[in-house]
Amino acid sequence: MTTTLSRLDDARIIDLNRIPSPRGNLTFIEGSVHVPFPIERVYYLYDVPGGESRGGHAHKSIQQFIIAASGSFDVVLRDGQYSRTFSLNRSYYGLLVPTMLWRELVDFSSGSVCLVLASAHYDESDYIRDWREYVAAVSAPSAGTIA
Ligand code: TYD
Repeated sequence: MTTTLSRLDDARIIDLNRIPSPRGNLTFIEGSVHVPFPIERVYYLYDVPGGESRGGHAHKSIQQFIIAASGSFDVVLRDGQYSRTFSLNRSYYGLLVPTMLWRELVDFSSGSVCLVLASAHYDESDYIRDWREYVAAVSAPSAGTIA
């Protein structure tokens, strides 16, 4: 598995199409078209108690696209030195989270739904769940690509 470090600037909001209708709005996402990776997995967080947090890890090679399908929450991204916070509260845009950024999802509004599109199937070995291990990985002198 090759681990590629990302910069905080590589994380970005992607606006999605909206097809409005009096019958309700529609938004669609096609892998490798609206997000820069083939979509291999979809999961969602729901019934998250108001104010609760999730995440607290980095992915070595998996990219994700995070949408507040309903309600709101903040995504705090860290690169080991700096952090950026993105507030997600609409279902027609999402946050592209590239590899090797630490993420925490915080301040969920009650009843919110967090929809996540991922570039690969679930693989526990792709996670870094320990902050100190993460900082060591991104601080390595040759950090950039870790075989
Ligand atoms: P985890 O990624 O730690 O959740 P969060 O970052 O939102 O707090 O996953 C929680 C549990 O669910 C963990 O035991 C792994 C399992 N899981 C799967 O089995 N498949 C998946 O696709 C995901 C995302 C998690």
